[in-house]
Amino acid sequence: MAVRHFLTLADLSRDTLNKLITRAIELKAMQSRGRIHEALKNKVLAMVFEKSSTRTRVSFEAGMIQLGGGSIFLSPRDTQLGRGEPIADTARVLSRMVDAIMIRTFAHDTVVELAEYADVPVINALTDDHHPCQLLADIQTYVEHRGSIEGKTVTWVGDGNNMCHSYMQAAKQFGFKLNIACPEAYKPKADIMSAWGDNSEIIHDPMTACRDVDLITTDVWASMGQEGETSDRNKVFEPYQVNADLMAQAKKDALFMHCLPAHRGEEVSADVIDGPQSVVWDEAGNRLHAQKALLEFLIPPTKN
Ligand code: CP
Ligand code: NVA
Repeated sequence: MAVRHFLTLADLSRDTLNKLITRAIELKAMQSRGRIHEALKNKVLAMVFEKSSTRTRVSFEAGMIQLGGGSIFLSPRDTQLGRGEPIADTARVLSRMVDAIMIRTFAHDTVVELAEYADVPVINALTDDHHPCQLLADIQTYVEHRGSIEGKTVTWVGDGNNMCHSYMQAAKQFGFKLNIACPEAYKPKADIMSAWGDNSEIIHDPMTACRDVDLITTDVWASMGQEGETSDRNKVFEPYQVNADLMAQAKKDALFMHCLPAHRGEEVSADVIDGPQSVVWDEAGNRLHAQKALLEFLIPPTKN
């Protein structure tokens, strides 16, 4: 059977994505009942991190342990990748030793190339263009709090970045409408907009974009790799803070999400992220359960 990868939300059908969400909720319930579920006993996940992480690293490591397997953390500081060994060679070597490869890196093409040369599933744990694992957790969180997201309206506030691109894909895959409130110069990439923009609308004014919506979500103004642009971005994005005035535009029972890490007082005010509409801790915690469902789906069981 052909190896399945998860590089973007486009890799799985709507039906499969919905099944993963259902399974994530089930796995979470099993975990909280203390049930042992070692579906990936003796399986190994290689985790290549070329950017920092707290949630992604811990959720994948904990997930593999809970599923009966293990993981290996690989940083460019202490592997040959950091000394220029090609990604294609790394893919072929790791494929002979592990059962799946997770990678967080800069250029999306790096992940595509890794998948091209790997004989085991490759999971995108964030590139400059996409963050699909986060969307699994976000959709799970919405479903747990409010039921199906199909037919709802979500507003993305801030940078047209990797998270925004994955939200655009999620809008099409899960069937919701996405408003994007971003500055003119920080729109989503044109190619992603033309391939995935059907359910998305750019509404530059955040107040208008948040009117009567079901979920408001945002992210940092300067992503990893853009640290040098921070002071310029802080000026441009100032009108795009998610605060109580903006939340007041949305439906009364609207939720607030943020993939984290967050900067209180910049993209979100403290009263919103720490307030009653915020579900950011559930959202972060669901990374574990959503990714366990993904790992269980992608890694074939051992044949005796
Ligand atoms: N949201 C997220 O991916 O967090 P980390 O950068 O801590 O992994
Ligand atoms: N857009 C952010 C997401 C962090 C999880 C970044 O790429 O740094």
